[in-house]
Amino acid sequence: MEHAALSHALPAVQEEAERLYGKLRHLGWTMQECQLYAPLTLEINQLKKQRNAIVLGHSYQTPDIIYGISDFVGDSFELSKKASETNADTIVFCGVRFMAETAKILSPEKTVLLPAPDAGCSLSESITAQDVRDLKKKHPGAPVVMYVNTSADVKAEADVCCTSANALKIINHLPDEKIIFLPDQFMAQNLAKLTDKKIIGWHGKCIVHDEFDAESVKAVRKAYPGVKIVAHSECRPEVISEVDGMGGTSDMIRYVKTSDASTFMLVTECGLGDRMRAEFPKKQIVGTCSLCPYMKKNNLINVLSALKNPSEDQVIDVDETVRRKAKKALDRMFELS
Ligand code: 13P
Ligand code: SF4
Repeated sequence: MEHAALSHALPAVQEEAERLYGKLRHLGWTMQECQLYAPLTLEINQLKKQRNAIVLGHSYQTPDIIYGISDFVGDSFELSKKASETNADTIVFCGVRFMAETAKILSPEKTVLLPAPDAGCSLSESITAQDVRDLKKKHPGAPVVMYVNTSADVKAEADVCCTSANALKIINHLPDEKIIFLPDQFMAQNLAKLTDKKIIGWHGKCIVHDEFDAESVKAVRKAYPGVKIVAHSECRPEVISEVDGMGGTSDMIRYVKTSDASTFMLVTECGLGDRMRAEFPKKQIVGTCSLCPYMKKNNLINVLSALKNPSEDQVIDVDETVRRKAKKALDRMFELS
């Protein structure tokens, strides 16, 4: 498609702006906006080739990151799998610290870069390795299933890791009747309803999913008859009781993709709704969403600087003893998934 504003742009920039516009127009981006971003995404994509680097983008990232520069987009599980399989020398993780650390745990020989070094996670910050050791003492023999939204030294204390995509499968796969599930209290409560196992939890919560309440979900259902509502399993149980489906981000995408309905509410971070609008433009996404302040710390500027000349704190490093222990828990997750 030819556009007047692009007639003076360099051919490569024009082509890049056209590529961006193909997806971003579904999110209301204009061709002029795409033209502004195109030189930056072009430069990043060229640098990626020169450095044999890939960009992994979580579904909660902004659309310019997802459609402009990401080689793979997915949930925590899919991205950690990609990180373990890639032949790239460098992984630029557009996500949060626990995700970049997971990539480093799985691929210690690679350089792993986190563009925004202060991209944390409220769940990850809710628990320490000492907390896990204390819990193990209190419940001897109970295996520890650790949500990946945790730091490397916390994972090192676990028997097996999990993500929202495989938590239930892993819990049910373990022979034990009593399981320590950390650190998300709401996910633990939601899973406890779906299994016969006794779940010992912790008090962590996701500040993003904690913002949703049952009343606003009910209001959307009333306002849009026929709407299908899906929620992330980090939401409060009283929210989950009101929805049609619960799961991780990829489960939510699958739901939207395969459902015959035309209108959906996604009870999660706003990035997922944007992804659905861009990828399924005929489906309508309604209702509120919530922004993750950590996920949104990555941007094209800090990705470019990380690729060009990473600062010390953009380079992910994990202590080798911790890494080996944490890797065992992640490997076990892959085995059981
Ligand atoms: P997913 O693994 O479902 O993508 O979730 C990651 C996350 O941080 C949810 O808040
Ligand atoms: Fe952590 Fe919640 Fe942000 Fe996910 S959305 S990174 S769980 S704070």
